Amino acid sequence: MSRPSWVKGGPRVIKKIPGPKAKELVARDERVMSPSYTRAEPIAAEEGWGCYVRDLDGNVLLDLSSGMFVLNYGYSHPRIIRAVVRQAKKLTHFAGTDFYYPAQVELAERLVRITPGDFPKRVYFGNSGAEAVEAAFKCARWHTRRPRMLAFTGAFHGRTFGAMSLSSTNVLHHRYFSPLVPGVTHLPYPYCYRCPFGQSYPGCGFLCVEFIKDYLKKVVPPEEVAAVIAEPIQGNSGYIIPPPGYFQLIKELCDEHGWLFIVDEVQTGLGRSGKMFAIEHWGVVPDIVCVAKALSCGIAPIGAIIAKAEVMDWEPGAHASTFGGNLVACAAAIEGLKILEEENLVKRAAELGEMALKRLRELEENSRIVGEVRGMGLMLAVEIVKDKRTKVHGVKERDMIVGEALNRGLIVFRGGNASIRIAPPLIISRRELDLGLDLFEESLREVEKKC
Ligand SMILES: Cc1ncc(COP(=O)(O)O)c(C=O)c1O
Repeated sequence: MSRPSWVKGGPRVIKKIPGPKAKELVARDERVMSPSYTRAEPIAAEEGWGCYVRDLDGNVLLDLSSGMFVLNYGYSHPRIIRAVVRQAKKLTHFAGTDFYYPAQVELAERLVRITPGDFPKRVYFGNSGAEAVEAAFKCARWHTRRPRMLAFTGAFHGRTFGAMSLSSTNVLHHRYFSPLVPGVTHLPYPYCYRCPFGQSYPGCGFLCVEFIKDYLKKVVPPEEVAAVIAEPIQGNSGYIIPPPGYFQLIKELCDEHGWLFIVDEVQTGLGRSGKMFAIEHWGVVPDIVCVAKALSCGIAPIGAIIAKAEVMDWEPGAHASTFGGNLVACAAAIEGLKILEEENLVKRAAELGEMALKRLRELEENSRIVGEVRGMGLMLAVEIVKDKRTKVHGVKERDMIVGEALNRGLIVFRGGNASIRIAPPLIISRRELDLGLDLFEESLREVEKKC
């Protein structure tokens, strides 16, 4: 599939978004679709290529959200399309829960190779990020025979019952769904810009970890805990990055009490953070890794957990799903992992990310409303405040910036209370990234003028 002609002129808004065709679709959607989706922007897509998506009204948008952090290789990567067509022509389905096919095993072998830890591992395939988390939760209980889980405030792990019970981004996710899965305790996540203990790193002496130790004496018997689950960088909360040394201390607690350490790399995994897995920034080896989003290449749903072989010791029938690791999804995922390796995209994410972070930090210095810029690799966040001293969330300002960006043909995505996430496909060119950051800066300046 060669570069389509509509990409050539770059981002452009011909008809104000939503244009007439998008409006019509939104009206039809509202009549028949579940209102539970959180549609933030009225973008109705027609086709995509590379980092660009064209909407129904002919607007061309530069997507710095990678289709919600899924398209690490961009829209319609020709190699992935070819791999999928090849597989689909041969065989689209053969129940992997009950029989065998090579693509599942090949993908598992590749995942085992790239996840941290020099020990035998096993892979379970599901259909989504939430299902990967669900599998990790069940696997941890099964292996340890312990009932409790420790998770973090601000975490997002998905919306199925187990994953939802481990999450705590927003009460809206829990409201009226009780009783949740019992046995989950949330610990404060180290959000240093807004430290829940009023401290500043590095002078804090990791009071947040000391708090956990104290909590274990008073609230949670440690010998009842199966596992700790953490996003190494919290995604939906706006790319919150724990300080150096943090996960090493959490892992020490895990080792002391016999807890498994589960990392949810659904958003951070497969190169996005400038390492294959974000937990590698802390040099900590987890027992179970959850992946999804980028693994799918945006083709067919897939999620997976990669666990220490001795941990994934459940018996036949304990867990499975008809479509988990289906043939077409596996074919896409295998090709995606080849591209990641052959095109050196992990290194590329680190290098481009560093350049973008430098630019955004300059913006932070020169802006009244940028409270903090943070990021690792190509997962960057800009937290908007009304006032840098008081740090009051600039929710309206943040929403206005996202809207201004859209008016200029740029997709960036909300995160947390008042942050904006910038997470382009890892195949983005330096020129495209610069252009995106120019448009972002213009949008921010426009809002600053108005506020
Ligand atoms: C870190 C993390 N875990 C789990 C999920 C849930 O994934 P899915 O929407 O595929 O169920 C998400 C989705 O945003 C996520 O960001």
